[in-house]
Amino acid sequence: MEQEEKRREHHEHIEGEHIEGEHLEHEHAEQKPIEREHVERECAEHECMIRLVDVHKTFMDLKVLHGVNLTIRKGETFLLIGRSGAGKTVLLKNILGLLSPDEGQIIIDNTDITKLNKRELQKVRLQFGLVFQSSALFDFLNVQENVGFFLYEHGNVKKNDFLRINQIKDKVKETLALVGLEGIEEKYPYQLSGGMKKRVAIARAIIYQPKVLIYDEPTTGIDPIAVDKIVSLIEDLHSKLSITSLVVTHDLEVGLKLADRLAFLLGGKIIFEGDKQELANTNDERVIQFIEGSSKGPIKEMEV
Ligand SMILES: Nc1ncnc2c1ncn2[C@@H]1O[C@H](COP(=O)(O)OP(=O)(O)O)[C@@H](O)[C@H]1O
Ligand SMILES: [Mg+2]
Repeated sequence: MEQEEKRREHHEHIEGEHIEGEHLEHEHAEQKPIEREHVERECAEHECMIRLVDVHKTFMDLKVLHGVNLTIRKGETFLLIGRSGAGKTVLLKNILGLLSPDEGQIIIDNTDITKLNKRELQKVRLQFGLVFQSSALFDFLNVQENVGFFLYEHGNVKKNDFLRINQIKDKVKETLALVGLEGIEEKYPYQLSGGMKKRVAIARAIIYQPKVLIYDEPTTGIDPIAVDKIVSLIEDLHSKLSITSLVVTHDLEVGLKLADRLAFLLGGKIIFEGDKQELANTNDERVIQFIEGSSKGPIKEMEV
């Protein structure tokens, strides 16, 4: 009875409403991790933007990823969730080609990037816009120069090419308006709040129209009101830019507001991939424990 009570709370947490407990028969079940067959099936049925097949990554004797299988569909907002230290950022870096896996395939828009040379990889990387946890703005550049950075860099813009400089300035202005910032071009990062810095970082990531926008812990280190604003901004941009978004966070509440589908990384593997309905119906105790934020249950400190 107690279990049933617990399960009901679990459903309500995700769905915001009561669901009859028709999935109660497999109490304490631990499901198998997501396997490569799932990726094949998923990508036969849907257009996949990103797929990982049996990805392994070890640092010295620290096994971080061991057999990650994951699919992200074109145009969706996908949430990768897991506790701190689970290996989410390492997984991201593999997707970006900043780290190469020891084993496995990473297929971005039908290209296996583990087979590419440096130059080819750099081209693929231009399809990604990145928003890091720390915002990572350049302190010595003002907002206009920070947001326009990639256009100046990749465009090889000369100091006296005023036509091109003015074009970039217009583009920066337009992009800042998209993230709800206006008239702050001359300000320096130290003059901005945490939330504003995050917006500037997002503007910098979207200015060259990437196909995939990746946010690593987008709401960490900013106050709760700014968190809500960043969440609505991410939603708003997703619909305006019709882009694939990957949000990586340990904050399930924020993540569920944004995501169409999600995956849970635990013990170096994806142990759940699916939509919110499937999450509500899961009977994997490890997933349920994470959702409930419980310290009791099958997840031991060693596993994270
Ligand atoms: N370049 C590296 N060399 C060695 N260990 C690393 C490296 N990058 C990450 N790690 C380790 O891998 C584990 C996962 O880290 P990370 O992916 O940053 O976790 P998170 O899920 O919090 O993003 C941690 O134990 C971290 O210390
Ligand atoms: Mg991280």
